[in-house]
Amino acid sequence: MTGPVRRPVDRPRRLRTTAAVRELVAETRVHPSSLVLPLFVREGAEEPVPIGSMPGVVQHTRESLRRAAGEAVADGVGGLMLFGVPEHKDAVGSGATDPGGILNSALADLRRDLGDSTVLMADLCLDEFTDHGHCGVLDGRGRVDNDATLERYAAMARAQADAGAHVVGPSGMMDGQVAVVREALDAAGHTDVAVLAYTAKYTSAFYGPFREAVSSSLQGDRATYQQDPANRREARRELALDLAEGADMVMVKPALGYLDVLREVADRSDVPVAAYQVSGEYSQLEAAAERGWIDRDRAVLETLTSIRRAGADIVLSYYARHAARLLRG
Ligand code: PBG
Repeated sequence: MTGPVRRPVDRPRRLRTTAAVRELVAETRVHPSSLVLPLFVREGAEEPVPIGSMPGVVQHTRESLRRAAGEAVADGVGGLMLFGVPEHKDAVGSGATDPGGILNSALADLRRDLGDSTVLMADLCLDEFTDHGHCGVLDGRGRVDNDATLERYAAMARAQADAGAHVVGPSGMMDGQVAVVREALDAAGHTDVAVLAYTAKYTSAFYGPFREAVSSSLQGDRATYQQDPANRREARRELALDLAEGADMVMVKPALGYLDVLREVADRSDVPVAAYQVSGEYSQLEAAAERGWIDRDRAVLETLTSIRRAGADIVLSYYARHAARLLRG
């Protein structure tokens, strides 16, 4: 015996009946101006060099970088994050602090071209510039030397700000890096240059394609300085330190596997929060889309929406320009 069908009183589906009403009640929006496009520039390249594991992404020449940056800004992305791939590497990453080094000269190109029409960001880390591929300098026993590395970061921050970066992004996960970078910038008169701290940066397999993107020389891993994926509470500790040291913005990275951390950081941070949809997150979607196993455009917007919903104000993504175009129709 079944009784009469009970009719629901509350009907959430009412607000899903048309695209217009769904748009009206959407709680989270992705806007091009909150997206940042990472770009790679390679010293000595005469043609853009495709990155095999990141279809559609290249190591730019200085000239092609200028074009790509201008187009991305014209399409509405909110900022650019620049990575340099030097021709020569050494133990201390000299190219990172050389005003004529690839990253600094490309920053100067873009600042000259684009002025203040976008937010120009620079990756502040030694890994692209060291012959051993680590984010810092090594001590006599081959370990990453935290405090010696900080001195290099201070010099790198000055060089990037001199070259025209609006924002520097220390990504090496050295203790005390935000304080040292802030101090170095202020001492050089760059009080307006902001620090985007990589606050909770996890040691991740999803950086795999990036290593090709920057022609990394790394053997081994970065587990002695990047966070263990098992740890959430530790991210709170890193956040407290970065805020106390003067971070203007904080970041969680990678994004999709760390949405819980992102939510927690967003709830506790009184500065804007960024998340980085990293190379492996991009390549994964590209590989599936290429096979027709997933709808690229829907997946891109869905992942970006999820990252925003979890608390990111800003999203760094290799899809930034693509998404900006999708969103503008
Ligand atoms: C360090 C840095 C890395 C990424 C951004 N900054 C590499 C790493 O930590 O190994 C990874 C970005 C990505 O995978 O897209 N300079």
